[in-house]
Amino acid sequence: MLLGVNIDHVATLRNARGEESPNIIEAAKICIESGANGITAHLREDRRHISDVDIFALKAEGFRLNMEMAATYEMKKIALELLPDCCCIVPENRQEITTEGGLNVASNIENMRNFVEPLIDAGINVSLFIDPDKAQVSAAADIGVKYIELHTGAYSRAFGTNNENSEFNKLKQASSLAHLLDLNVNAGHGLNYQNVKRMLEIQGINELNIGHSIISRALFTGLDNAVKEMLNLVNKN
Ligand code: PXP
Repeated sequence: MLLGVNIDHVATLRNARGEESPNIIEAAKICIESGANGITAHLREDRRHISDVDIFALKAEGFRLNMEMAATYEMKKIALELLPDCCCIVPENRQEITTEGGLNVASNIENMRNFVEPLIDAGINVSLFIDPDKAQVSAAADIGVKYIELHTGAYSRAFGTNNENSEFNKLKQASSLAHLLDLNVNAGHGLNYQNVKRMLEIQGINELNIGHSIISRALFTGLDNAVKEMLNLVNKN
């Protein structure tokens, strides 16, 4: 399983002082040198953490870059100029603290197809961030993307409670259906050093995108160790 490290919260910390530290390029370098397979960054409409300068600087450094973005005209224009390796299309609203739910692609097939087509034509691996729901998975396949990212937030929140298994089974079933439909399956949101272990029970997950837990642990152990510890868990067979 590949690990993409989401470095948004390094930028959150930097922006708390409005200066250059901690430097996100330095953080991204440490993640990659510690074995991460790519860098994920969410350029939000309100630019609350990652800035336009950041995203272009990450690309210029040659990191394998997954740009998370809302399905807006502004973001599409930036993505077509940036040409990241991957774009993960996420829902976004201004009030949310973090991405709350998956995209509703099932009721937006035509619009979503029109939105992603130019990105795919430009050679970007486009994925749709969706809840582990069969209708959403089928719709993603209809739209013509090759990747989905399953929202693991509900499973992560349910971890250790009576609902853990039912939320986990939704991920497992959505992933099986996606594979039948020839979709590559990524997953992320809310994963940490405990709940990530069950991701290994799901066959064929391509990549996990993890941010908050790694950046939080880095405060205590250093970013290199935080990334390596997560890689150890993710790559256990
Ligand atoms: N994947 C997607 C699509 C996200 O929006 C986020 C949060 O920015 C993540 C993964 C990472 O989530 P977390 O920071 O909870 O690990």
